[in-house]
Amino acid sequence: MKKRKNIITVAIDSPAAAGAGTQAKLIAKNYNLFYLDTGKIYRYIGKLKLEDEKKFTYKFIKKKINNLKMIYLKNKSLLSNEVAVSASKIAKDKKIRNIVHKFQQNCAYNPPKRYSGSVLDGRDITTIQVKDAMFKFYITASVEVRAKRRFEEYQKLNKNISYTEVLKSLKKRDKSDKQRKYGPLKKTKDSILINTSKLSKKASFKKIKAIMDKKLKY
Ligand code: C5P
Repeated sequence: MKKRKNIITVAIDSPAAAGAGTQAKLIAKNYNLFYLDTGKIYRYIGKLKLEDEKKFTYKFIKKKINNLKMIYLKNKSLLSNEVAVSASKIAKDKKIRNIVHKFQQNCAYNPPKRYSGSVLDGRDITTIQVKDAMFKFYITASVEVRAKRRFEEYQKLNKNISYTEVLKSLKKRDKSDKQRKYGPLKKTKDSILINTSKLSKKASFKKIKAIMDKKLKY
């Protein structure tokens, strides 16, 4: 794959609801980077499975990913817990992961010209997708804090799910995402750990920005 030269690449991995998306958006805005939430692609595929299991073949998924438009990933229907659980299940499949990889790496290494680079967040970004990223972060928080945040988001979206259910579902997804054979979530040695359990969005970003500014000599 051809890669755009002299771009800023940021790779972030995190367990679900740790605040990585929020930080990635702040990074993208501050440094004029193209942002891809890779979890949304798995959610998109997970939703396709929920919609019609009979149609759900590798050929069908490939076609859908080839025709994938960023706007499809903004659909609110991708935010439900049911879709997240389905995403986590289909994400174990090596063939599905391979279908998604090209799309993701193209976003990372060939972002639209108007951007100075890219920021991707997910589970296998620092480990596989953008191994050579200029900046690598592992963003995490305690599972209770993450469940509380996700529960509050669901409440705003009027989703009928209790805190206990959210906590249980996150724990299950953490386990599956960390223990699966292909693209498991883990912190690489060269990733900088950001624990957001006790940090506000602003304080977390301040930490990240200080690290990035130092290297970029801003
Ligand atoms: O980040 P989000 O919670 O939206 O991701 C949904 C699911 O998609 C995750 O639980 C994980 O199983 C899968 N995923 C993945 N690799 C990524 C991003 C997400 O396997 N890079």
